[in-house]
Amino acid sequence: MARVKSVHRCSECGGESPKWLGRCPACDAWGTLVEELAAPSTPFLAASLAPRSRPLPIAEVDLEAWSPRPTGLGEVDRVLGGGFVPGSVTLVGGEPGIGKSTLLLQALSSMAAAGARCLLVTGEESAQQVRLRAERLGALAPTLYLAAETALPYVLSHVAELEPDVVVVDSVQTLHDPELSSAPGSVAQVRECAARLVRLAKEQGTTILLVGHVTKDGALAGPRVLEHVVDTVLSFEGERHHALRLLRAVKHRFGGTHELGLFEMGDTGLAGVPDPSGLFLADRRAGVPGSVVVPTMEGHRPLLVEIQALVAPTKLPQPRRSAQGVDGGRLSLLVAVLQQRAFVSFQERDVHASAVGGVKVVEPGADLALALALASAVSDQPLAPDLVACGEVGLGGELRQVAQTSRRLTEAARLGFRRAVVPASAEVPPGVEALRASTLREALALAGCEPRRRSEEPF
Ligand code: TYD
Ligand code: MG
Repeated sequence: MARVKSVHRCSECGGESPKWLGRCPACDAWGTLVEELAAPSTPFLAASLAPRSRPLPIAEVDLEAWSPRPTGLGEVDRVLGGGFVPGSVTLVGGEPGIGKSTLLLQALSSMAAAGARCLLVTGEESAQQVRLRAERLGALAPTLYLAAETALPYVLSHVAELEPDVVVVDSVQTLHDPELSSAPGSVAQVRECAARLVRLAKEQGTTILLVGHVTKDGALAGPRVLEHVVDTVLSFEGERHHALRLLRAVKHRFGGTHELGLFEMGDTGLAGVPDPSGLFLADRRAGVPGSVVVPTMEGHRPLLVEIQALVAPTKLPQPRRSAQGVDGGRLSLLVAVLQQRAFVSFQERDVHASAVGGVKVVEPGADLALALALASAVSDQPLAPDLVACGEVGLGGELRQVAQTSRRLTEAARLGFRRAVVPASAEVPPGVEALRASTLREALALAGCEPRRRSEEPF
């Protein structure tokens, strides 16, 4: 009998230490090491077994069985690049109450309606609760099976018996293996259960979806270690008090991670948003200083987003620079470029900037719009309501064009914008008047928000 040793494991990153320490040696988090029993190490069994895999010439590897299975929910399929791949494991993360269970129930019922055998393992809600919700959502498909279960061995035996194509485990934090001594929900439990399910997926070609709750700061609580084990990590985001929900792939072994899925939570569950630009601009008040619309690209889709800036006098020795939905580093950089290259002064002023509607705009293509919003806020001069801006700003104050300017501006024209401030070399589609500028200073003059002279300062 192997002697059981104890180790101390970090609940944040899963790092190990032989003795207790105040700070995790792997990720430097404080007070996260928890004692657990190490599994006795088994001799290398594989050496005595015949190999189950056979090396093949790369071109002969069978792809047929690995083509994605569409969920039938357009926005989910867009993010995944077609659908869930058989034999893959996906972790769906999001804050409690954001709508993960609803999304997966709708996806399962849609796949079941298309003929797939689906199993939903619910560890948080009772089978009755899930059925009631499914009724409300019109999701009572005949090949959608339900099991209220939290013990891993029973889940595995249900899977062996039912042989489903798709399994959802809601949530992975409630799963536990009674053979392990650590408590349900602990890092060791979550990791072991997930590893067992990953093996099952690979051996049987079952698609497995795991729900994982995340903490406020966006990290997957405890099972952050799972990100390495699974094939795909999806993040479901949004503000609970708004109806808008965003689905993005954080990691995806079968395709890109740049597509964004948009949903609205309503009385009958989640509905895809067909016209996101229209939705983001619906409540816009044009003609307010500090507001600029930027046509961004989210994957292959152009998306119009309003950027807002507010500049206010302050007596703080270190004025505030706050960014919501825009990159904080980019904001500081643009403030510096505006000061040095375009003579817009931010001295003794707090700066706040945000992207409206709960989206995150991090691409450099939004630089020019953010810089114009800041200049417009400082000078208290609004931009014309039919104006958009798009381009990257360099440290020298020069403007550079960004990819797919023409597609972005076509979308802007569809929503009624007629003029665009763009870098000199940008390609502009018919129907949009180009206001070309090669420097930030020229752009400020074209948009009508140059800095006031000292004598005109409002304060
Ligand atoms: P849920 O899917 O249970 O969230 P999670 O699994 O991420 O914890 O969804 C929770 C919220 O969604 C709940 O507050 C109610 C709301 N909701 C609707 O507004 N409409 C609906 O049709 C459904 C099913 C839920
Ligand atoms: Mg849930």
